Amino acid sequence: MATLICSLVDHSDDVNWCAFSSTCLATCSLDKTIRLYSIKDFSELPFSPLNGHGYAVHSCCFSSTGELLASCSTDGTTVLWSVNTGEIVTVLQHPGRSPVRICTFSPDSSCLVSGAADGTVALWDVHSNTLCSSAAVKEGSVVACSFAPCGQMFVTGSTNGDLCAWSCPMKQLCTLKTAHDLGVTCCQFSPQACNGMERNSVYFQMASCGQDNNVKIWMVSQDVPSGCEFQLVHTLNGQSAPVLSCAFSSDGQLLVSGSVDKSVVIYDANKGIILNKLTHHERYVTACAFAPDMPFIATGSMDKTVTVWRIEDGTSFGGRVSQHSNKGSAVSNATAKKKFDSLNEEKKEKHLDVGFVKAQSRLCVSEWSEEAVSVWLCEEGLDELVNIFKANNIDGSQLLSLNKEIVTNDLNIESLGLRNKVIRKIEELKEHLESICTGIPDEFLCPINRELMEDPVIASDGYSYEREAIESWIHTKKHSSPMTNLPLKSVLLTPNRTLKMAISRWKNCQ
Ligand SMILES: *[C@@H]1O[C@H](CO)[C@@H](O)[C@H](O)[C@H]1NC(C)=O
Repeated sequence: MATLICSLVDHSDDVNWCAFSSTCLATCSLDKTIRLYSIKDFSELPFSPLNGHGYAVHSCCFSSTGELLASCSTDGTTVLWSVNTGEIVTVLQHPGRSPVRICTFSPDSSCLVSGAADGTVALWDVHSNTLCSSAAVKEGSVVACSFAPCGQMFVTGSTNGDLCAWSCPMKQLCTLKTAHDLGVTCCQFSPQACNGMERNSVYFQMASCGQDNNVKIWMVSQDVPSGCEFQLVHTLNGQSAPVLSCAFSSDGQLLVSGSVDKSVVIYDANKGIILNKLTHHERYVTACAFAPDMPFIATGSMDKTVTVWRIEDGTSFGGRVSQHSNKGSAVSNATAKKKFDSLNEEKKEKHLDVGFVKAQSRLCVSEWSEEAVSVWLCEEGLDELVNIFKANNIDGSQLLSLNKEIVTNDLNIESLGLRNKVIRKIEELKEHLESICTGIPDEFLCPINRELMEDPVIASDGYSYEREAIESWIHTKKHSSPMTNLPLKSVLLTPNRTLKMAISRWKNCQ
């Protein structure tokens, strides 16, 4: 009942998440990029991959119309991208700049929730790109989040194992302690509206999965006077290791889950029985998603690949029934990965507007064009300087190297007030950028606090961290890896001498 359609092999590191809109598939990775594919033929879109995150991209999701894509990263930001152009629409800086592990739009896409490693949950207004409110769970990192189809409530899951329901706007409704022993990894509401209604309460079906090797299906009721309640309906244990991802089909009939045991299991969500088990990936399956209108699932893995399957089961999508034959189960009729022929594709002109530059300013000023510098000058009330800067071809990297001397002698800015103002604005810009983009090589920054490391140590997940940061992480976060979220095999920390030397060499050259 599942036919392999293709394997996408473009990412150069672990795939962390997959998401579908009705026309596209988005995948994101530890390689810091997001890739976009057309679901017509799974060719990559011309402007893919999307670059802009400074670290691993953990999760991504499409707005309901499919026009926006949100992605979140260890770099402490959630970025909104235009799916039509691949341009950054805005960059949302998470409160406290904590690594962002999960982001999800509300069903009408008027707001977005992001959850972070420090346990904070932020609710953003998507139209104004402003933070509406933020709060925090008591313990652990927030790694899972899903909105109920009514849009009035969402649930977060954290690495300490709790599920927490929130109203929208944000108020904690209730917490279910230890829903998954050792940690929740993912949760998703069935897109289908309530399965029942009783006086003042509405029920929604939700699945969660975790480090306890289980997928659980819950009825979450939102009770108007007394908050809410989680009622366990099924515990699904078709996998023999932690389950990292789960997703419902759009009709709510099927549930797919991916596990550390490398398998993908498709369940009948109502009966709680296994319909199919796919063993195709070579390493942990970290991501799975159903396409909303097509009989496709995508699964992503630490083997760096994304696999797309066609599901035919008769109950869903009205596809052909083939219950008894295993025909097509993990068959290897993979169509070769198609490379988009971008030769004839004219490079899309960049639309420079203030919003775009604002977003860029959070990223790399050194890559600004001269126009971007002009827009920045206007934003800062330095319109008078636009022509002088243009005449001198000042782009982003030139801007960062300007000092009093150059401004006075070379640019011939006569007004002392204006000279001082532009120098001050450049200093502010540099300060603002310091922790975000200074040209410090990424591998010199600690993934936890994003500061230049002084005493880098290698943890048992193979990543290097600042000793103090990983020690306090291990102390408070129950021994899970900040990068992969999987349990740390040991708490042993080994100095990374090579890295330490590289950092000190780099520092001496600055
Ligand atoms: C030390 O850190 C660097 C940069 O993160 C990494 O490439 C290297 O593999 C690390 N060394 C060891 C022995 O893990």
